[in-house]
Amino acid sequence: MNSLGTSDKLSLVRSDIRGPVYEEALKMQAEGKKILKLNTGNPAAFGFTMPESVKTALIDGMDDAVAYCDLRGMKEAREAILSYHLSKGIAGIDLNDIFLSNGVSEAVQMVTLSYLSYGDEILLPSPNYSLWENCAYLAGAKPVFYRCCEENEWMPDLEDMRSKVSDKTRAILIINPNNPTGAVYSETILKEIVSLAREHDLALFSDEIYDRLVIDDLPAVSTASLAPDLLTVTFNGLSKSHIVCGFRCGWTVFSGPEKKKMPLRESLTKLCSMRLCSNTLAQLAVPYALRDNESTKAMLIPGGRLYEQREAVCSVLEHIDGIRFVKNRAAFYLFPKIDKEKFNIRNDQQFALDLLHAKNLLIIPGSGFGHKGNDHFRIVMLPQKEILKKAMEDLGDFLSDYKQK
Ligand SMILES: Cc1ncc(COP(=O)(O)O)c(C=O)c1O
Repeated sequence: MNSLGTSDKLSLVRSDIRGPVYEEALKMQAEGKKILKLNTGNPAAFGFTMPESVKTALIDGMDDAVAYCDLRGMKEAREAILSYHLSKGIAGIDLNDIFLSNGVSEAVQMVTLSYLSYGDEILLPSPNYSLWENCAYLAGAKPVFYRCCEENEWMPDLEDMRSKVSDKTRAILIINPNNPTGAVYSETILKEIVSLAREHDLALFSDEIYDRLVIDDLPAVSTASLAPDLLTVTFNGLSKSHIVCGFRCGWTVFSGPEKKKMPLRESLTKLCSMRLCSNTLAQLAVPYALRDNESTKAMLIPGGRLYEQREAVCSVLEHIDGIRFVKNRAAFYLFPKIDKEKFNIRNDQQFALDLLHAKNLLIIPGSGFGHKGNDHFRIVMLPQKEILKKAMEDLGDFLSDYKQK
């Protein structure tokens, strides 16, 4: 127990995406201000809609989703997930290796809790999506961060990763495509990570929730397809690709030799049986969604919303003095660098607050992704392109005479 009478286990847990700057935005909103919130990757909040096929599946199948289902998930959903991941080259998996969850968020919590013991270390990318760091803390483990290198399109720095492996390391996490950088990792870099894991007999956790949202015609290679001899857990879900964040629909796939994956699967099964099953209504959508990728693809090509919104943001940002960025190759996040000397930025949260107060524009400072240096921020590029363009012009206008006090 801590001095507030609550559990110590949460003392390191934080989420700046809904943190102090967001709280301030809500306060301003309550006072009647119109805030453009570029903090969360929640497409339906910006007029994106789920595919008709998913809607129909839900309405037509409702009666089949009333009872608790198998603790791992409904058979039809697991069959669809199985064939999806087989098609991505993951070998040696069957229906028993697939577990549905209430979003990838729940899967991460359950897998980290099932796999990591007190004092274990897990290598996480920096910048990082805070869910993973928080789940490591809750599991009693220590997150250790490896650098992703902005000068190299935000690719993981293999030498840094190697230097962070210790005798306590149990797993390496790869977020590919990445949040917050939007990077897509090449097969070459993934193979290097796999061989490092192989050298030290580490598990690989691969968060691939954005694998269907690659914009620039790059292949989204599944880590597990390169690591048939290693315990690999692949995380994926429908929240983003099928615009159903609120359904809470995610899953995990266990691959690798049976003797490596079986203990973790069994440990996870205990947790799954405690929560009986994940939301069955959401599971109804899975076979339809994984069959219907056309609506997702349509967002990513010229003329599609995600493509055009990215172009709109980049076309304005590239003319703002004091901002540099690596164009995202997937998803809808950009993680620009800001010239902190020029603007005298010593605290990136203060920068975000100043921007919010001046322009009613909410962005998340880089420190919210564990990024040190007070010189980055994340933009969510989900509003319509005209709105985003105006927001980036407002940012440019704000910076034209900004000096942090
Ligand atoms: C990298 C990454 N993993 C996991 C999640 C969680 O997704 P969900 O719980 O909606 O499936 C997100 C959400 O933004 C994410 O960006």
